[in-house]
This record gives sequence, structure tokens and C-alpha cells, in this order.
Amino acid sequence: MFTPVISATGLFTPKDSISNEELVASFNAYVAQHNAQNAEAIAAGDMTALEPSSVEFIDKASGIKARYVLSKEPILDIEVMGPRWDERPNEEIGVLAEIGVAAARDALARAGREAAQVDAVLCACSNLQRAYPAVAIEIQDALGIDGFGYDMNVACSSATFGIQAAADMIRAGNAKSVLVVNPEICSGHLNWRDRDSHFIFGDVATAVLVEEKSIAPAGHWDILGTKLKTVFSNNIRNNFGFLNRAHPETRDAKDKLFVQEGRKVFREVVPMVSDMILAEMDRLNLTAEHLRRLWLHQANTNMNRLIASKVLGHDANEDESPTVLDTYGNTSSAGSIIAFHLNSDDLVAGDTGVICSFGAGYSAGTVFIKKAA
Ligand code: COA
Repeated sequence: MFTPVISATGLFTPKDSISNEELVASFNAYVAQHNAQNAEAIAAGDMTALEPSSVEFIDKASGIKARYVLSKEPILDIEVMGPRWDERPNEEIGVLAEIGVAAARDALARAGREAAQVDAVLCACSNLQRAYPAVAIEIQDALGIDGFGYDMNVACSSATFGIQAAADMIRAGNAKSVLVVNPEICSGHLNWRDRDSHFIFGDVATAVLVEEKSIAPAGHWDILGTKLKTVFSNNIRNNFGFLNRAHPETRDAKDKLFVQEGRKVFREVVPMVSDMILAEMDRLNLTAEHLRRLWLHQANTNMNRLIASKVLGHDANEDESPTVLDTYGNTSSAGSIIAFHLNSDDLVAGDTGVICSFGAGYSAGTVFIKKAA
């Protein structure tokens, strides 16, 4: 029997960040312009005036204070309000693969692993740049890996689903070293003109190196158990797709970007996730006292506080359930991995924790881990 472990994680963070103040100033300038341009229709009752956004609301409702992005200026430009860059020729590495490679190199360096020793690459993320060839194969090629790669998408849960896929591959003896890469360019699928969601997402890439225990470096993380769950819901949805071209009159409609019923998501996902963590703890013979830390998906601080308190039986502090939302925002599948990457060095051999993701689908995944000597 082969035993999968986590050898190391990696992180790529874009250099530019947008604060809530900058974001709201731009959004409100757009609202003022829109309302002025449509003043007559609004006065006649044919159009509803747009409402301004507020820094206070965003802070309080989400805990997000800033987000990193790959293309700051066009996002803040009220004539554009979205990321923009030149399309790259096929001979050049794509932007999604590029940030994935940066995170992967970080994970490899931390594990002391040469890329040539890796067997497979999974690109597990919410929004792939193209249909094919798989971005994972482009990352594999850029790193010089002799093996195979494929893409997978389970929205915000992509990373934990990728970790289980890699772990299963190792258990079955089909690979010894697998890179799970989560490049998330969320700025491309966020509607920056939508007051309800314009503050939510940021860009980042993470990587997780899952390996067979016998080749893993000292200080790796034993995987105690993984559990996945999906339940269909339309409450988080993005209808963008190639078939939209068949319907030119609706191809630019709001639902071709991220849309959600945030309140319903909050209400329905909190019990689903906390019940799932508790059931998995039961299966693994773990109690709250055994849990040193929860690295939860980063969508909303209030949601995380509630999930953590249901699991631990008391209000969790920042040490027990760290958040990176204030600086990174929601980075889809990468969120729980960033939380783990930035908040795990202080744990010692024997410490146990859970990486947990949740999001569109609905989908949720838990990976219980224990620091090895
Ligand atoms: N600025 C100011 N006010 C705003 C606003 C903004 N940008 N956006 C909404 N509001 C207002 C609303 O109009 C509403 O006003 P009303 O009470 O007068 O009707 C009020 O704030 C509350 O809006 P609501 O959308 O109900 O806020 P919320 O407290 O539910 O917070 C989310 C919104 C999205 C932050 C929250 O629901 C959430 O995080 N849900 C989970 C999302 C999630 O995990 N998604 C997974 C994605 S991967």
C-alpha cells in the first residue's frame, strides 16, 4: 500500500493590490456617471438609479479589505472595469499557466524536489483560460515534467478535490509525485459593475505537492483522510461558455459572469460544511481538542467564524482559524491553500488540522492532515 502525504505548498501573489477605498471610489464614479447619463430615463421611472457601494459594508459583510490583481488599472478605469492584456501568441506561455508555474516552482523548491522527479500535474481551478490543450499540460511542459497532466474544475473546491485525486493516484501506484496547481484569475469572471459582488474576488496561484511518503521530505504532512461532497445548486453560477456564441443577443448578459445569492449560500453552506467536518472527525476518531487549526475556504469571515465555532464548540481565534481575506479577498480554490501556506510553519510534529473548501456546485472538500516528524 502506498501512502500519500503533502510535501510542500507554493504561492504566487501578483504585485498589485486594490484596496476597498480604491475599489469603491472607482465603482461610485461609475455609478455617478451611469446615473447622470441616464438621468432622464431615471426621472421618468423607466430605469432604476444605481446605488453606490461602501467600504464599511464590504468590511463588515465580508472581512475583505483588499485583493491582489494581475491588471489593476483597467479594473479601476470606469470605461473598462475588467482586466485587460494583449493576447499572447500560442508560442508564448499562457497567463494562467505562467502564474501556475510560479506557484509550482515555489512548492518544488520548498520540498527540495526537482521538476524532473514529478510524475503528474493537475490544474485544478475555477476558470480555465481555454478549452484545450489542457493548461496542466502547458504547466507540465514549462516545468519539464515527463508524465501527464489534466485540468479539473470544481469551482472553489477544486484544490481539495485535486488533492484527493492526487492522493488516490499515489495510493493506486500510478504516480509517486503529483503537483496540484490552482491558478485563479478571478478578476476575469467577476462583474466589477455589480454592487453585490464587485468586492469579492482577487487573483493568485497556489500549488500543493502530493507525494508518496517514502520519498517525501522531513516535516511533510500526513493525510489522515479526505472527504468530498457535491449537492447541485444554482445559487452560485457562471453561465459563460462556448455555446453562448449560439445566442448572440444574450451572450453579454450578467449571468455570463459570476452571480450568486449570497444570503442563501451563507445559510445553506455553513451547516453543510460544518456537518461534513464533524462527520469526518468522527470517522477519523478526532475530537475538537485534537484540532490544532482549521484552514478554511476564504469567502467570508463571518461564515468562517460560524463554521469554526460549530466545529470547535467555541468562538475560534485567528490562531485556530486564520483568515487571509483581508489582504487576498476570495481567491476561489486557492483560498484555503493560501491560509495553510502562510499559517502552518509554526505547527509541530503531531499537530493535526483540516484544510476545507466549499463553493459553487455546491461542492465541499476536507483534507485532514497531521504534521510528521
Ligand atoms: N455596498 C453597500 N451596500 C451594499 C452593497 C455594497 N457593495 N452590496 C449590497 N449592499 C446592501 C444591500 O443592498 C442590502 O441592503 P438592504 O438591507 O437595504 O436591502 C444590504 O447591503 C445587505 O445585502 P446582502 O447582499 O444581503 O448582504 P450580506 O450581509 O448577505 O453580505 C455577502 C453579502 C455576499 C458578503 C454574503 O452574503 C456572503 O459572503 N455570502 C456567502 C458567499 C459565498 O461564500 N460565496 C461563495 C463564493 S465562492
